[in-house]
Amino acid sequence: MINQAQALRRMVNRSGTSGPRIVAITSGKGGVGKTNVSVNLSLALLEQGFRVLLVDVDLGMANADIVLGISPTYNLTHVLTGTKLVSEILVDGPNGLKVLAGGAGLYEIANLSVPRLDAFAKALDELNEFDFILLDTGAGIHRNVISFALAATEVVVVTTPEPTAITDAYGIIKVILQQSPLTPIHLVVNMAHSPQEAGLAADKLGMVVRQFLDQELRYAGYILYDHHVVSAVSEQRPVLLAYPSSLASRAIRRIGQSLAGTNQGEQVAENGIQRFFNRIHRLLRA
Ligand SMILES: Nc1ncnc2c1ncn2[C@@H]1O[C@H](COP(=O)(O)OP(=O)(O)O)[C@@H](O)[C@H]1O
Ligand SMILES: [Mg+2]
Repeated sequence: MINQAQALRRMVNRSGTSGPRIVAITSGKGGVGKTNVSVNLSLALLEQGFRVLLVDVDLGMANADIVLGISPTYNLTHVLTGTKLVSEILVDGPNGLKVLAGGAGLYEIANLSVPRLDAFAKALDELNEFDFILLDTGAGIHRNVISFALAATEVVVVTTPEPTAITDAYGIIKVILQQSPLTPIHLVVNMAHSPQEAGLAADKLGMVVRQFLDQELRYAGYILYDHHVVSAVSEQRPVLLAYPSSLASRAIRRIGQSLAGTNQGEQVAENGIQRFFNRIHRLLRA
């Protein structure tokens, strides 16, 4: 189904790494568009020929399953308790997208003994087949959210151009970089009214991060405020599929290209999924 160029890009994207790029989508403030970015960015990466898994980490909020119009029956809890195989809890989204509902299982990982954690991570070994695993997380400085961001290989911070959203975005970036200074942080400015407004917001945030945290943000791009997103959400369809040539859809494809074009910072020898769950375990227990 994918062409040679896509296969090549995929190979280059994966070179020197083992396992998928695990990308946490997060924000300081809620309602800035994390779920829409997660879902549509997943679909954009699929279009580029990557194998993508979308994991719903955010509990209790209207989320990826709503935007996709699907309703997973099983989640990670069922794998933890041994009642389901991973292959049985992966839900088919549109265009070959695979979706995994985290459910409370993601937090129960904290209570696993190390041997059980190893067994669990082995059960999830098939997730290493993916090129990208996108985690749709909640907002804010909550420890659970931070844990997922810290365990991921990289983070996408979503903000709007509003000063409060930028301040909160800085807050979460600060916490992440203080605990894990090498985590690559990509920035997406959503719901901007012009590219200039988005660029100014990105510059401002980039400047304080450089000045106070001594790190560089990677500006992955902006998405304009687009009523097609609002319509798509109410139709329970991803905007990329419902309105493929809308401004928002085109912007998200560009962000996908930007993300795929940048390699993850950290090169790891360890098995990707195992490493991820070991980190989650450690961080949630801390
Ligand atoms: N680019 C955009 N243009 C217009 N509205 C948007 C855009 N992105 C998000 N929205 C609106 O914001 C709402 C919240 O987005 P959502 O992705 O659920 O945020 P979060 O996951 O951060 O809480 C959506 O339901 C939609 O109405
Ligand atoms: Mg959300």
